[in-house]
Amino acid sequence: MALSTAFWDSQALLTANRIGVFEKLAGTSMSAEALATEMRADPRALRLLLNACVGLELLTEEQGSYANASATAAFLVPGGPGYLGNAIRYSDNLYATWGQLERAVRDGQPQLPTSQYTGDSDALTRDFVYGMHDRALGIGRVLVELVDLSNCRKLLDVGGGPGTYSALFAQQHPQLHAQVLELPGVAAHARDILQAMDISERVSLLPGSFRDTEFPDGNDVVLISGVLHRELEPMCRELISRAAASMQAGGRLVISDVFTDAGGCSPPFAAMFGLNMLLTAEDGGVHADSDLVLWMQQAGFEVAAPLPFPPPMPHRVICGTLQG
Ligand SMILES: C[S@@+](CC[C@H](N)C(=O)[O-])C[C@H]1O[C@@H](n2cnc3c(N)ncnc32)[C@H](O)[C@@H]1O
Repeated sequence: MALSTAFWDSQALLTANRIGVFEKLAGTSMSAEALATEMRADPRALRLLLNACVGLELLTEEQGSYANASATAAFLVPGGPGYLGNAIRYSDNLYATWGQLERAVRDGQPQLPTSQYTGDSDALTRDFVYGMHDRALGIGRVLVELVDLSNCRKLLDVGGGPGTYSALFAQQHPQLHAQVLELPGVAAHARDILQAMDISERVSLLPGSFRDTEFPDGNDVVLISGVLHRELEPMCRELISRAAASMQAGGRLVISDVFTDAGGCSPPFAAMFGLNMLLTAEDGGVHADSDLVLWMQQAGFEVAAPLPFPPPMPHRVICGTLQG
């Protein structure tokens, strides 16, 4: 029963985020009536939503006055360094798509084509890119600690999205220059983000599809993060081979993603993530990290054991060094 109603919890969070409850409660507490007046909402209905949010530990309530819980203040109020509201809005955009899971399972097709949120719809694209940026600011700070690029001068970031990882690596290593190969619709938003991070001089954009854009050569390191879960084995192998061809022996390939263990059923989040990608990308799914290790080895890389990110981050990173 808990599983069958878990979407209630999701929708309460998504709605509160969408209508701006957490923003309105930033640094203050308010009654349901006062908040309803400000938000032009029905007071009785809003109180039910606020009470549900208290149950979810998103809000606190004292004598009829509601306030943000501390994690909400840290992650759901716009402007804070840990803000995840854009990422939550992107989940919100996928709520109806998840309702089409039966159709996806029957016909094997995504119910939200990639083109919709990588250029065709400006609103969806913006939420996708800024949602990735929000998440990457957290995950990327871990990645730059896990992967030492102090000997690298040239980084190619394939499907680099907002460019946040490249930017964080470049901030960490003053000698590093990065190129972000990304679809033009996404790259347009990435340009704004890189400018706001004041790193455009060392992180440049290469707008195009990795399907038909040649990789620049002379890379010391190629990063493929969050991309291979959108591709089937042949394209994964092709991207790995092209990464190898773009570097000298000793060059590095860093692949970061959500992976399952061998067999595909665990961890549970990774198996669910495969469904999310089925719903949202033409060749979407999830790979086992052991498959990636094998494909990298067969392309000539010596590969270290996959490193898990600290919980609750579901990602793992696989690093390889090209052999002579
Ligand atoms: C989940 S995002 C990962 C973004 C970023 N690397 C990260 O880890 O946050 C996958 C990215 O691959 C990009 N992408 C998908 N197909 C692509 C293609 N054919 N050429 C270039 N980029 C592509 C998408 O636009 C998206 O930004």
